[in-house]
Amino acid sequence: MDMNLNIGVIKGDGIGPEIVTEAMKVLDRTAEVYGHTCGYTQLLLGGASIDVHGVPLTDETIAEAKRCEAVLMGSIGGDAKTSPWYQLEPSKRPEAGLLAIRKALNLFANLRPAILYDELKGACPLKEEITEGGFDLMIMRELTGGLYFGERKTVEENGVLTAYDSLTYNEHEIRRIAKRAFDIAMKRGKKVTSVDKANVLDSSRLWRKVVEEVAKDYPEVTLEHMLVDNCAMQLVKNPKQFDVVLTENMFGDILSDEASMVTGSIGMLASASLNETKFGLYEPSGGSAPDIAGKGIANPIATILSAAMMLRYSFDLDKEADAIETAVARVLKEGYRTIDIMSEGKTQAGTAKMGDLIASYIA
Ligand code: IPM
Ligand code: MG
Repeated sequence: MDMNLNIGVIKGDGIGPEIVTEAMKVLDRTAEVYGHTCGYTQLLLGGASIDVHGVPLTDETIAEAKRCEAVLMGSIGGDAKTSPWYQLEPSKRPEAGLLAIRKALNLFANLRPAILYDELKGACPLKEEITEGGFDLMIMRELTGGLYFGERKTVEENGVLTAYDSLTYNEHEIRRIAKRAFDIAMKRGKKVTSVDKANVLDSSRLWRKVVEEVAKDYPEVTLEHMLVDNCAMQLVKNPKQFDVVLTENMFGDILSDEASMVTGSIGMLASASLNETKFGLYEPSGGSAPDIAGKGIANPIATILSAAMMLRYSFDLDKEADAIETAVARVLKEGYRTIDIMSEGKTQAGTAKMGDLIASYIA
């Protein structure tokens, strides 16, 4: 069935515009091959929004995003040392816009798949005996609660500056992300590793209790609990043991960067942030990399793979998503590499060249 895909696009800051342009190229080509059309609405977020509106996110942008079926995003933020955006108070900086849009759209489930491509083994810092056979894990990060959204303040108490950040989770927030994790595990390796710090934190003890309740509805899925410090260690010691890693917001932020690095480059990692509906915000896991912005060397693959996730999760276009993933695997197999994943004997390609090649391989 031919579809018209109504997609919001946040190009954002730094390398964002370059990598999103390539993802749109691949989307347009995929739509052409499969008989769909893509309609794009450009949305401003982060520094790009500050430059125009003085704030990193406006109500109008939220309303426009809600009118789209899905949003594809590049990255937001700049160099904290040099960019004027960081002269603003914290709540007006680019990152605040990203957190606010996650909250406004209720995007509580953040999926960050980490896959080691056979062709990229050379870029993986782990020993070959550890990565033999590859690995494929999915970090499920809770995205709208915990430390990121708790009350915070900095006050002077008896002449001493004191800062507070609070970590709160209620059972409903834990239950809905846990259900998502188990649903996804059912379609994958049927194993959930729930990561917490239950030996110290009350929020983690509640997390564990609720996850165990949810697990009862999924008898086919094996549930394992792991403390976050141990998990950080296990990710480099034996990443193959993981299927779905379920964790709260802050732990997920940290562990997903670690997981990305063991795949070779953060430039390869896609992500999806979903709410209760089909709507999702899709973005590469990496940041805006202001140091290489505008140079045409950024790796667009994570954004292109995020576009594939968008087709799969928001539009149920599995064949089209497969076509993009196959095209990415082919470009790697043929030896093309952006600088971040470059190794001896391979052909270095810039951002646009990578996009062109992947688009041309869509079949
Ligand atoms: C991420 C990023 C963000 C986060 C930053 C930019 C606020 O690191 O998406 O992982 O911490 O969630
Ligand atoms: Mg992060």
